[in-house]
Amino acid sequence: MIISSGADFRQAAKRRLPRFLFDYIDGGSYGEDTLRRNVEDLSRIHLRQRVLRDVSNVSLETSWFGKKLGLPVGLGPVGLTGMYARRGEVQAARAARARHVPFCLSTVSVCDIAEVVRGAGLIWFQLYVIKDRAFMRDLLAVAAQQGCETLVFTVDMPVPGARYRDAHSGMSGPFAASRRLLQAMGKPRWAWDVGVRGRPHRLGNVAPVLGKNSGLTDFMGWLAQNFDPAITWCDLEWIRSTWKGNLVIKGILEAEDARAARDLGADGIVVSNHGGRQLDGALSTAAAVPAIADAVRDDLTILADSGIRTGLDVLRMLALGADGVLLGRAWVYALAALRPKRRRDVT
Ligand SMILES: Cc1cc2nc3c(=O)[nH]c(=O)nc-3n(C[C@H](O)[C@H](O)[C@H](O)COP(=O)(O)O)c2cc1C
Repeated sequence: MIISSGADFRQAAKRRLPRFLFDYIDGGSYGEDTLRRNVEDLSRIHLRQRVLRDVSNVSLETSWFGKKLGLPVGLGPVGLTGMYARRGEVQAARAARARHVPFCLSTVSVCDIAEVVRGAGLIWFQLYVIKDRAFMRDLLAVAAQQGCETLVFTVDMPVPGARYRDAHSGMSGPFAASRRLLQAMGKPRWAWDVGVRGRPHRLGNVAPVLGKNSGLTDFMGWLAQNFDPAITWCDLEWIRSTWKGNLVIKGILEAEDARAARDLGADGIVVSNHGGRQLDGALSTAAAVPAIADAVRDDLTILADSGIRTGLDVLRMLALGADGVLLGRAWVYALAALRPKRRRDVT
């Protein structure tokens, strides 16, 4: 198959992955309205076509938080990436380094921070609001010690979204473990490359609290019990004073919240609705960015995600007022679609 676009990567990922994993990546929450609207609203943004300007010397370089980047793009945090491709976080971090863009490691990654930073370039770390503050403090200390300069703190998941596709496909719901096993057997290439050669699949950063019970089912249970729905802006003051590096608040959709992030002392925000995986019915990010840019463009670095599938979408977000974008599904489909070429990409 010839792969020439993001849509091709999505199709290839669908063929390669067991259904529970593809649906986990591809799906959104509830009726998936926001998931759809993210893509549709962005596709309706028209660019102005000006002509006869010298475009022989165009540079895509930019800088965020004082670091020069090859493109105004970063790989955003995506959990369980080591299940979509063999040691997936390691592969993605190295691909990001090759393009001089940051890779943001999710709290709930398969590979832990120490494994990913080896051979990687600019690594950011994403943290969720977890009830156990000592666990959070320890993770922040590890991230700082491993050289992560930027913390992305995700605030749009006080409770996990209602993702019905997961229950249908076996990611959760009755007999989930046996359904997943059956699906894995139907994808022998994935089963060998990721399921066998990609072990261990413990969640590297969370393993210290999960202990021996670190399978997918244990993880889903842990997530449901440990996310903190009581979080407020006051709790973020604690994070701001603990974390000395750049702080980026992810999950902002309203100008008032962008101003609150600025007043807290954040360095940047990600305008995001979690790719339509959390509050269904929320505004698309294409609709949200302009008002937020008006409110805080002089004070904060404004990144945006959700619905970005192509280079053209990146341009559209820049035109709406973002300083850059984080990719989500777009890079994960590509990672899942292709097998690593060389062993050193993975180990
Ligand atoms: C499979 C999957 C797992 C995700 N895991 C995380 C995560 O661990 N932490 C986080 O902050 N966001 C997570 N996100 C949200 C992404 O960082 C990002 O906000 C979203 O994918 C953007 O939407 P898009 O994929 O439509 O571009 C995840 C998204 C997907 C698709």
